[in-house]
Amino acid sequence: MRIKYYGHSCFEIIINNKKLLFDPFISENPLAKNIDISQIMPDYILVSHGHADHISDAAKIANQSDATVISNFEIISWLRKKGVKKLHEMNIGGKFTFDFGNVKFFNAAHSSSMPDGAHGGSAGGFLIQSSEGNFYFAGDTGLFYDMKLIGEFMSIDFAMLPIGNNFTMDADNAIIASNFINCDKIIGMHYDTFPQITIDKIETKVKFQRAGKELILLNIGDELNLLN
Ligand code: NI
Ligand code: MN
Repeated sequence: MRIKYYGHSCFEIIINNKKLLFDPFISENPLAKNIDISQIMPDYILVSHGHADHISDAAKIANQSDATVISNFEIISWLRKKGVKKLHEMNIGGKFTFDFGNVKFFNAAHSSSMPDGAHGGSAGGFLIQSSEGNFYFAGDTGLFYDMKLIGEFMSIDFAMLPIGNNFTMDADNAIIASNFINCDKIIGMHYDTFPQITIDKIETKVKFQRAGKELILLNIGDELNLLN
C-alpha cells in the first residue's frame, strides 16, 4: 500500500492497484501551490463531508480522471447537479464492496455543508478493509466514544486522524482516539493549513512517542510505502 500526501486532509492511497484520493483540497490550499492537480488521476475519490477544505477539487479531478466519487447521499446528489457522472452514495453505518476492498462509512462528530451553503448530509469518515490492509480515515471529527466500535469491527493497521485542534480534535484527543481504535500508527492531518490549526510538529510527535505510538507527519508531495 502506497500513500502520497497532498496537504491538509488530502491523501492518495494505492490499494490493489487502484488509486483512492481522499478529501481533495489542493488548488485552494495555500501550502500546496507546487502540486499540479491536472496530473492527479485517481480511480476513486472519497469525500468525508461537504466543507470546501475537503471537496473543492473533487468535481474537477473526477471529470479529468473519470474517477468514481464515494460520499454521503447529499454530497453525491450535489456533485450530480455539478455534472459529475460516476458517483456512489453511501450513508452512516453502510458498507459496500468495491474492486479494491470494502468501504464502511463511519460517523464523525462534525458538521457538513456544501461550499454554496446546500445541506451536506452527515459528516463521516471511512473504514477501508482490503487484502493489503485495513485503515481508518477519520475526516474532520472531535473525539467520540463510538470510535471504540472501530477496533471491534476490524484490526486497524494505520489511521489518518486530525490533530490541528480548533475545528477538530487535537493531538491529545487523537492519542485517546488511537487507543479507542486500537492502533499505534497514526498519520496526522488537518494541521498547519490555516492559522487556527498551527501545531508544533516536534512537540506533537513527542507526545505520541510518550504514549507509545508513532505519529507520521508527511510533507506535501511526500510518498511512503506502508504495510509492504
Ligand atoms: Ni470540516
Ligand atoms: Mn476541514
